[in-house]
Amino acid sequence: MSRQNGSWSPSEKTFGKAMQVLDATASSGELYRNGLGMIASENIVSPMVQKIVASDLHGRYAEGLPGRRYYQGCNDFDTIESLGIDLAKSVFNAPFANIQSTSGTVSNIAALKALAKPGDKITAVSTADGGHISHARMGAVGLRDLDLSTYPWDEERMEPDIDGACALIREIKPKVSLIGQSVFLFPTPLKEIADAAHEVGSTVMYDGAHVLGLIAGGVFQDPLREGADVMTGSSHKTFPGPQGGFLLSSSEDEKMHKRLNNAIFPGVCSSYHLHHVAGKVVALAEFEEYGQSYAQDIIKNAQSFAQALAAEGFDVLAESRNYTASHQVLTRHGGKDSGAGAKAADLLEQAGIITNMNMLPGDTKALSPSGLRLGVQELTRVGMGTNEMEEVAALYARVLLHNENPSDIKEDVKNLKSNFQIIRYCFNDSQQSGYPL
Ligand SMILES: Cc1ncc(COP(=O)(O)O)c(C=O)c1O
Repeated sequence: MSRQNGSWSPSEKTFGKAMQVLDATASSGELYRNGLGMIASENIVSPMVQKIVASDLHGRYAEGLPGRRYYQGCNDFDTIESLGIDLAKSVFNAPFANIQSTSGTVSNIAALKALAKPGDKITAVSTADGGHISHARMGAVGLRDLDLSTYPWDEERMEPDIDGACALIREIKPKVSLIGQSVFLFPTPLKEIADAAHEVGSTVMYDGAHVLGLIAGGVFQDPLREGADVMTGSSHKTFPGPQGGFLLSSSEDEKMHKRLNNAIFPGVCSSYHLHHVAGKVVALAEFEEYGQSYAQDIIKNAQSFAQALAAEGFDVLAESRNYTASHQVLTRHGGKDSGAGAKAADLLEQAGIITNMNMLPGDTKALSPSGLRLGVQELTRVGMGTNEMEEVAALYARVLLHNENPSDIKEDVKNLKSNFQIIRYCFNDSQQSGYPL
């Protein structure tokens, strides 16, 4: 950078780099505007949330809790956060809510900090069976140096083997019994597990990262009333807010509330990204208004998409349970560890359909799995319904079963998507309710 004629002008090289970022950002926006975003952990935020996330709040600090800050200038943010805590308690029907966490993983790290000490025992679903990396030694569980045992898994029902899980909890008496997965097709029979856990003095932690919107919408399960003491989650998957996390509890105990709040700040966050928190609060208000119908539509779409894929000839998992009771659908594209899931995801991307490869029961290699994990929450958010789910399944068949050239199909994907450019279930119903940059 140099100063010329009284003003700072950037060198071509550094300015070029910034322009590259702008161009790539615009191009990524195009990809999703013209394509089908079907990654189960993603979503698109409302225009009002987009505006707030880009506000001045992005540069501000507010350590502490509303009314008890370490910095000046927080009065307006106190209003925002207080509103948000009340809304989160109401939307999740929770006696306690902390809305500061910057992600689902951060919520998990904080919860484990509050609930366990290094060396304590924990039980969880293994990553091979769909557990999240933060439930594993490589992630938050290892960071807290917890002694992990994993539940046996019922491949037919795609949930923990309940008798086995309860027996494991009764045998090893973990400090924390962690429930919840990244591959989450069906509600977990939580009551039995919570009974076993509470019998041995274990705290039940439910990771609802993926299914938080379905829980709040009343269409999945109600962990805080089925025995979960603490519930964590992301604010940007089926709950359609900006990236961030929630930390919730069914406990009325103020000491527990203090432990959970302290685990977030000063435990694992200093700045907690005020623009995202404010965006979360607007998303909570939007969810209170529209969340129930959004959650119901997601489930209808997931079931109809799964049925349509099966009718096209795909191997869709959990047929005996009508495939899914969440936003997710799992498909198998080849033998165990064959990498067929990776190949399928790549071909779909060439056709403008964005998905992710996923390990299925029996796979052992995360980079060459046999399956895909598909989510319909984003397509639902832009107004697609069951008819479109059939159209999307037919596009999948053309790419993956009939071996048509993916770049030919990309045009058809774009045409289909051109009719779904308005973000729904939010406070903007005008024609401008569109995609971000
Ligand atoms: C079960 C589960 N927990 C936690 C997380 C982490 O969430 P985040 O990406 O918000 O950190 C994920 C992410 O997909 C998840 O699937």
